[in-house]
Amino acid sequence: MNAKCQMKKTTFPLSQVYRLLEPGPVVMVTTARAGRANIMTLSWHTMMEFEPPIVGCVISNRNYSFEILKATRECVINIPTVELAETVVGCGNASGRRVDKFKAFGLTPVAASVVEAPLIAECYANLECRVIDRKLVTQYNFFVLEVVKAWIDPARKHPRTIHHQGEGVFMVAGRTINLPSRIISRAGK
Ligand SMILES: Cc1cc2nc3c(=O)[nH]c(=O)nc-3n(C[C@H](O)[C@H](O)[C@H](O)COP(=O)(O)O)c2cc1C
Repeated sequence: MNAKCQMKKTTFPLSQVYRLLEPGPVVMVTTARAGRANIMTLSWHTMMEFEPPIVGCVISNRNYSFEILKATRECVINIPTVELAETVVGCGNASGRRVDKFKAFGLTPVAASVVEAPLIAECYANLECRVIDRKLVTQYNFFVLEVVKAWIDPARKHPRTIHHQGEGVFMVAGRTINLPSRIISRAGK
């Protein structure tokens, strides 16, 4: 890029940088304690390893889900599609301390196979996870999760996931392009 091109840019507020880097699909994290399940919406997550799949995520310590996850060390990452967008935002604007979100949003809990937290039936994929590292929880609210069981709806060939761009703006997954890469996961060899 030449200098002239760069000059056309303006500075960008540091407080808004996250909006440029918002990563994968918005997900709904379920947790459970003493038979009571909860749901929270989460967009700050990142893949950390292919296999076993390891996922890092930031969960604010103000959220009810934070204390349940910290105590139980188990959760499910549920991946919704655009059809559930309003529900996804609703679950991100209510606290499980006061509301049973499964009831309030008409979602269906399904027993997981490995963890106590339930799957959300309406989501097209569900990842049962265990917390494997809490070293960064105190400083960054960052949980390292290992996916121990994964479920997917085989009928959903082109799931249109939603991707948060901050401040209530979402991008809906659309066209895909296929460009073979030299970087092959160990799992995909
Ligand atoms: C689109 C969206 C994305 C969100 N992403 C996160 C996130 O990455 N981390 C987080 O701690 N909270 C996130 N939130 C906020 C929580 O979902 C919200 O605080 C929720 O009410 C927590 O529920 P709980 O108190 O029942 O755990 C997000 C909310 C929305 C609407």
